[in-house]
Amino acid sequence: MSEPWWWTDGLSVGPAGLALDGTPLEALARAHGTPLYATGAPTIRRRLAELRQALAATGRPSAIHYAMKANRFRPLLETIRAEGDIGIDAASPAEVALALEVGFRPDQVSVTAGMLSDRDLRTLVAQGVHLNLDTRSVIRRYAAIPGHRRAIGLRLDPAVATSWGGEARLAYGNSKFGVLPNEIEDVAALAKAMGLTVDTLHVHPGWGLPDSAAPALAAVFARMASLASALPSVRTVDVGGGLGWRHREADRPLQPAAWSALLTEAFGDTALRIACEPGTFVAAPAGVLIVEVNTVEVRGGKTWIGVDAGHNVNVYAAHYGIPHAIVPVDRPLAEPEIEVEIAGNINEANDVFARGCPLPAVREGDLLAFLPAGAYGASMASNHCLRGTFAEVLIR
Ligand SMILES: Cc1ncc(COP(=O)(O)O)c(C=O)c1O
Repeated sequence: MSEPWWWTDGLSVGPAGLALDGTPLEALARAHGTPLYATGAPTIRRRLAELRQALAATGRPSAIHYAMKANRFRPLLETIRAEGDIGIDAASPAEVALALEVGFRPDQVSVTAGMLSDRDLRTLVAQGVHLNLDTRSVIRRYAAIPGHRRAIGLRLDPAVATSWGGEARLAYGNSKFGVLPNEIEDVAALAKAMGLTVDTLHVHPGWGLPDSAAPALAAVFARMASLASALPSVRTVDVGGGLGWRHREADRPLQPAAWSALLTEAFGDTALRIACEPGTFVAAPAGVLIVEVNTVEVRGGKTWIGVDAGHNVNVYAAHYGIPHAIVPVDRPLAEPEIEVEIAGNINEANDVFARGCPLPAVREGDLLAFLPAGAYGASMASNHCLRGTFAEVLIR
C-alpha cells in the first residue's frame, strides 16, 4: 500500500476499515457513539520515546513536561504518568489540580501561564509547583505571597514569528507572552531584589513549526544560551513546545532530529539542562475524531455533507483555518470521486470543516475520521448550542 500523506505509524487498514493502534474505529464509534475522540496510548508512548531520543542526542540532561492543555483526558494523563520520567506543563491552577489528582508530584509539574491573578498565585503557591513568569507585575505579586518557592523561571518573548503556515494566530513572537529579550536582565534583577532566584529561561516559539523555521529557532536558542550565560543562576532552558504534524499535504513539520540538532548547536557545550513542553507532537497523532454523516444534500451545484459535530467539538477549521485530513472510516484509502463541503451542526456560518474536500461517494450514516485530532480538540471543546457532548476513549 502506498501511504497517503496523513498516514502515521499508529494507523492501519483492515477489513473493518481504519484502525488506530490495532483497534478498528468503526466498531469503537458504534459502541461509544459519535462524535468520538479515540486516542491511542501506544502512539503516545512512541512519540515520547522519539522525544527522549532526540533530547538524549543533545548530550545534555533533559526533561519532558507534557503540555496537558493539548489533551487532558484523564486516561491519557494516566498513560503519561505511568511512563515515570515525564512531567506536566500546566497552564492554570485547575490543570495543576488535575495533574496532582492523577498522581504527578508537585516537583514534576511546571506552570507556564499568562495574566495570573493573585487568587491563581495563592493556589499555585499552595500546590507547590514551579512557575515560569513573564511580567514584572506577576513577579512582584508572587514574591509577596507567603510560602512561595524561591526559584522561578522567566518566560522570554521569542521575538520571531514562526508558526504553521505563517499563521499569525499561532505565532508567539512579539505577542502577549514573555519578557522582551533586551529586558530579561532587568527583570531578573527585579526578581533577585524580591528574593527570588531565576533558575529557568523559558520560551515557547509557536505552534506547528515548519522545517523552514529552523534558522529562526536557531537564533532564539542562541539568544537563550547567551542570556543564560549572563544569568548564572539559570540551570535550565525550557524550550516549550511547537513540534507538530501535517494538516495539509504541503506541510513539512520540523522533525525531532532537526530540532535536536538545533538544541545541540545552542546548548551542547553549556552546563544547562534542556526542558521542553510538547503537547501537539505527543497527542495529535494519537487521536482521531470520528463523526457521523447525517446529511447529504446537493445545493447550488455543491454537495454539502452535514455531520454530527461542530466547531465547538473541534475548533481547528473555524478558529484557525487549519484543515484536517478527512476520510471515510470504512474506506479510508478509497479514491476520491467528488469534492464536498463538510459542515458542522452549529448555527454559525463559519461552522464548516472543509470546502472542496475530495472524498469517495458518501452516504448518510457513514462515519468520517478527522486526523490528526488528538491535540487541542477535546480540550478546547465548548458547549455552544448545548452540543458539547462527545465521547472519549483511550485505546490501551
Ligand atoms: C507555554 C506553552 N508550552 C507548551 C505548549 C505546547 O505547545 P505545542 O502543542 O505546540 O507542543 C504551549 C501551547 O500553547 C504553550 O503555550
